[in-house]
Amino acid sequence: MAGKKQLNHIAIIMDGNGRWAERENVERVEGHRAGAKALKRTVEAAMDLGIKYLTVYAFSTENWKRSPKEVNALMSLLRDFVDNDLAEIDEKGIRINVIGRIEQIPWITRRKLQKAIRATKNNTAGTLTLALSYGGRAEVIDATKKIAEDVAAKKIKASAIDESLFQNYLYDPELPDPELLIRTSGELRTSNFLLWQLSYSEFYFTDVLWPDFDKNELGKAVEFYNSRERRFGGR
Ligand code: IPE
Ligand code: IPE
Ligand code: MG
Repeated sequence: MAGKKQLNHIAIIMDGNGRWAERENVERVEGHRAGAKALKRTVEAAMDLGIKYLTVYAFSTENWKRSPKEVNALMSLLRDFVDNDLAEIDEKGIRINVIGRIEQIPWITRRKLQKAIRATKNNTAGTLTLALSYGGRAEVIDATKKIAEDVAAKKIKASAIDESLFQNYLYDPELPDPELLIRTSGELRTSNFLLWQLSYSEFYFTDVLWPDFDKNELGKAVEFYNSRERRFGGR
């Protein structure tokens, strides 16, 4: 198993919008707006590099603790993203996908997202997965509950639970594990992102704030990945 593996899936913790806003002397929401632009740039850059899956942490289960003003601004930016950028994303052949406790997302936003998911479901150039109201622990708990229900209903046997069965109960069982995780803004933690899926991912941290992220910065992360030797516990 040692050696290189084709870079197929990149996960990103898009962090630093608030600090960018502070640096630019503007309101936090402007930082998020600039962050949405960085996302659009990065999706295009990733597709140009032949990356098949891009999964981005857009809103965590913990982010509900932020002020109603900020939460509302983020939800409205999400709606704008779907409204304004969907056509272009669809044109590029990108499929939109969502993971998380999406039942917690306000219904107008949720309905727009569901429409985007339906409209792009046959696209094959690449998949953009938005992690929304997402928490790694929440995902493990939600999967465990469904497994327990299926055991109780005698649909599966407890003795049949293994890693591949567990995978089938995640928000998106088809989502492959990311080979590379990127976190911007200099924080060195996972903040509850993709706990199950990151078990063997390479981690790349950069001080660049998310709204400043672009094709060039993505290139640096990919270069970092290409320099790593992946051993998976072997020699
Ligand atoms: C990331 O930027 C965006 C979300 C968490 C939604 P932050 O808003 O966390 O920015 P900082 O960490 O305060 O700079
Ligand atoms: C992680 O960033 C969540 C997202 C990028 C959506 P946070 O800014 O919320 O994480 P902490 O608070 O620094 O751990
Ligand atoms: Mg942050």
